[in-house]
Amino acid sequence: MNIIFLGAPGAGKGTQAEIVSDTYGIPTISTGNIIRAALKNGTPMGLKAKSYIDSGALVPDEVVIGIIKDRLAEDDCKNGFILDGFPRTIPQAQALEEMGVPIDRVVDIDVPDEKIAERMSGRRVCKACGSSYHVEYKKPKTEGVCDACGGELVRRVDDAPETVLERLNVYHSQTEPLKAFYAERQKLVTVSGQEDVRDTTALTLKALEDLA
Ligand code: AP5
Repeated sequence: MNIIFLGAPGAGKGTQAEIVSDTYGIPTISTGNIIRAALKNGTPMGLKAKSYIDSGALVPDEVVIGIIKDRLAEDDCKNGFILDGFPRTIPQAQALEEMGVPIDRVVDIDVPDEKIAERMSGRRVCKACGSSYHVEYKKPKTEGVCDACGGELVRRVDDAPETVLERLNVYHSQTEPLKAFYAERQKLVTVSGQEDVRDTTALTLKALEDLA
């Protein structure tokens, strides 16, 4: 099964992608995580992406399209994959079609803007492995410490309130048009993001059950 998760920044795409990945044994490809890893390792791509990511802007299409092309060619994608955070613009979606990559379903996690700020301000991520938590909704067992690897939990630079606003603007102008793009192709399902992660997960898995 080849799935795309769409949604505003902080809607819970990454959280749901991780659960679906564990449920169906297919990899999640998060362009955000790939770019952040490149940034941490100081690669030329990471250095180029830094100013965009820190300010809440999108990294240029050609950079992320290149990342996806390389990643989808890897062996573990043969039985399916989840795209989390790609495509983010119409040209990226068109590039995916030009690559001949079939998509079974596009799950749009719908959360109102007012809720997004609250989720982002409480998000903490592991400095070492990138696992994501929330100070209220997804607490680690020990405060400030990653359950998975024991790393330190910090706030992402682009989760600062003013940057979140810019990311939301970018989402509405550049990414939201993808809903119509995939609705036209009869691939879009909308999952209404719930207060409790488990309730959102139940809706997400239901939206995918006929593909299993
Ligand atoms: P990226 O890392 O993809 O960020 P994003 O899309 O803004 O998404 P997030 O990871 O912030 O949120 P999410 O929806 O995954 O939410 P999460 O599950 O963590 O991209 C970062 C940057 O990289 C971009 O700004 C851009 O610069 C660049 N980039 C990446 N891809 C690109 C592309 N294709 N083209 C160009 N540039 C690109 O949840 C958020 C929080 O809420 C968590 O704390 C979580 O625990 C909590 N939460 C989740 N679900 C619930 C729930 N149901 N109830 C309560 N809390 C919940």
